[in-house]
Amino acid sequence: MPVIGNRRIIAPSILAADFGKIDRAIGLIEQAGGDWIHLDVMDGVFVPPITFGAQMIQSIRKLTELVLDAHLMTINPGSHLDAFARAGADRFTFHIETEVHSHRLISQINDLGISSGIAIVPSTPISAIEELLDIVDQVLIMTVNPGWGGQSMIAKTLEKVRRLEKLRLEGGGDFLICIDGGFKLENSHEIWDAGVDVAVMGSAFFEAENPGELLDKGRSQ
Ligand code: DX5
Ligand code: ZN
Repeated sequence: MPVIGNRRIIAPSILAADFGKIDRAIGLIEQAGGDWIHLDVMDGVFVPPITFGAQMIQSIRKLTELVLDAHLMTINPGSHLDAFARAGADRFTFHIETEVHSHRLISQINDLGISSGIAIVPSTPISAIEELLDIVDQVLIMTVNPGWGGQSMIAKTLEKVRRLEKLRLEGGGDFLICIDGGFKLENSHEIWDAGVDVAVMGSAFFEAENPGELLDKGRSQ
């Protein structure tokens, strides 16, 4: 039996928020009952857009006690680790595609006392991260190509969720399975059913008329 699993954690992403009113966005996530806050850090190199870095995380840390889940879409993610930890990030996820020495970086994250995560883009297979599953706290399966919110989920990526859950059941690790991209009410049943523990929600959350109701429904179906 997995120690963790089927948690149905929803992490609204501020990527879809108005960056000029970030305090309101954080307030909305808290009010609606969001579990974590997902922070999409983009460097204009690994992915075309540029978003924000540790300074933004430090400001958000002052506004909330919710879990801050940083998703680094940057090259050289390790060069940001200390600044993010100091800024108050609780979880630090980087892309396997950006780091040859992933095992070392995960160990460095763990040594800092924050949670480690490894992310893979749709074209990267689970086999690329299998050797890391026993030391990492979460695996983020990108269900869209990273860079932008508001895209449709690539259904085939859920096969990787199923494969990961199987590996976990077989004793391959104690990690949370997360998905990122294209999550909305219409596919919530399908994603939880595949074995997802944590689902990031960007545009659907910030476009909802009643975000609290959306999260309740999104967890229950
Ligand atoms: C995409 C980001 C996602 C994004 C998800 O590169 O990593 O976290 O905010 O947004 P939606 O839910 O709109 O697909
Ligand atoms: Zn993300």
